[in-house]
Amino acid sequence: MPHVAPASSTHLQASAVPIQIPPLSQPSSVQLSLVVPTYNEASSICSLIRQLCAHLDMILPGAYELIVVDDNSPDYTAKLAQELQEELPQLKVICRQRERGLATAVLRGWQAARGEVLGVMDGDLQHPPEIILKLWPAIQEGADLVVGSRYVGSGGVSHWNLGRRLVSRGAQAIGLVLLPGVFRRVSDPLSGLFLVRRQAIAGIPLSPKGYKLLIEVLARGRVTTIAEVGYIFQERQNGESKIQLQTCLQYLHHLIHLRFSLGQVGAFLRFSTVGLSGTVVDMVLLYLLHDPANLGWDLITSKLIASEMAILNNFLWNDLWTFRHVTRLQPGLSNRLKRLAKFNMICLIGLFLNSSLVILLSERLGIHYLLANLIAIGIVVFWNFYLNSKLSWKSAEAKLDPGGDKS
Ligand code: GDD
Ligand code: MN
Repeated sequence: MPHVAPASSTHLQASAVPIQIPPLSQPSSVQLSLVVPTYNEASSICSLIRQLCAHLDMILPGAYELIVVDDNSPDYTAKLAQELQEELPQLKVICRQRERGLATAVLRGWQAARGEVLGVMDGDLQHPPEIILKLWPAIQEGADLVVGSRYVGSGGVSHWNLGRRLVSRGAQAIGLVLLPGVFRRVSDPLSGLFLVRRQAIAGIPLSPKGYKLLIEVLARGRVTTIAEVGYIFQERQNGESKIQLQTCLQYLHHLIHLRFSLGQVGAFLRFSTVGLSGTVVDMVLLYLLHDPANLGWDLITSKLIASEMAILNNFLWNDLWTFRHVTRLQPGLSNRLKRLAKFNMICLIGLFLNSSLVILLSERLGIHYLLANLIAIGIVVFWNFYLNSKLSWKSAEAKLDPGGDKS
């Protein structure tokens, strides 16, 4: 009697991320490995497997495998799938004992897969199995990734109420803000139904959290050509969704983690830190120059000197630290002076804004000059960051954001 493949020891560590998919060591007769992650899907798993096999036997006879990755469901989903293995040799069943979670389940399945193309479909029949007949041709036509989407062509959701639609769209909107370059690539980045070429992700460390593996693939994979196929997300007939509050928190954690590891937040955080040091320079100098207890110079002169010193301070730190990955490629004093000229010009315009604001706030509105200065700096920081990242250290973006693929 076929048995459930035991989870190997590497499968047993709950925190064993990142996970890498190995490249194929030799050409494989398996073209497609489709993973079905399951947790308590006893009521649908057998029907799903049979339907999938019937469809795949038509388009990929003898050249596909189905891999059910179950997290030791108490309803014996794994055992039910395992009972089909005798008649369906293309079916593998992996039963994880300690590791939990949808995205890592899929990756564990892909690690055990032999196919050139790796795919995922839910085990609860909410993804209609026949959609595989439309997904596969897109791969054959050369796509690196084909995504089943609720938001293109004939795609949609069956009977979602307004609240559920809003939550789904809200989650997508947060993603668009935090990771625009990832979320703009497809209409349904939260989809759990897609096929991807192994070569697009092989060897890349993947650290998904919770449910959403596709954003990880979009953000980190070598994905150039993307196709989308509309499908109707079916109502759940049996069992229940495993989405919980924790899943939502994991989603946010995942977005933030990606945001950081894609690099630009690193640069942004450094830029902000430098800005903070400039603020200290600006405030201290303004106090020393303007305050009656010290030099008592007039506000405009004091402010201009304080700010120019802050600009020089910021330039040095940004050039040596924040954007060091760019400046390393553009060495030499003359390059540095050019960057300084641009930075200084942008900041001087900012300074004009800044000074106008300080005067407006302190002399017209009667706000204490130090507080007015702080408010003005806060506003002008946005101006400075935006323009400088676009102009002074322009190649930073070109390097961090090849083709605008990664945000
Ligand atoms: N192995 C394993 N471990 N499988 C899991 C786990 C887990 O911890 N959690 C969920 N699954 C399986 C479920 O059994 C099901 O087959 C599939 O993953 C999707 O889980 P659901 O809980 O049914 O998700 P949903 O219906 O709310 O959302 C689905 O649709 C979204 C919209 O397309 C998911 O597929 C999302 O990934 C998808 O984006
Ligand atoms: Mn579901």
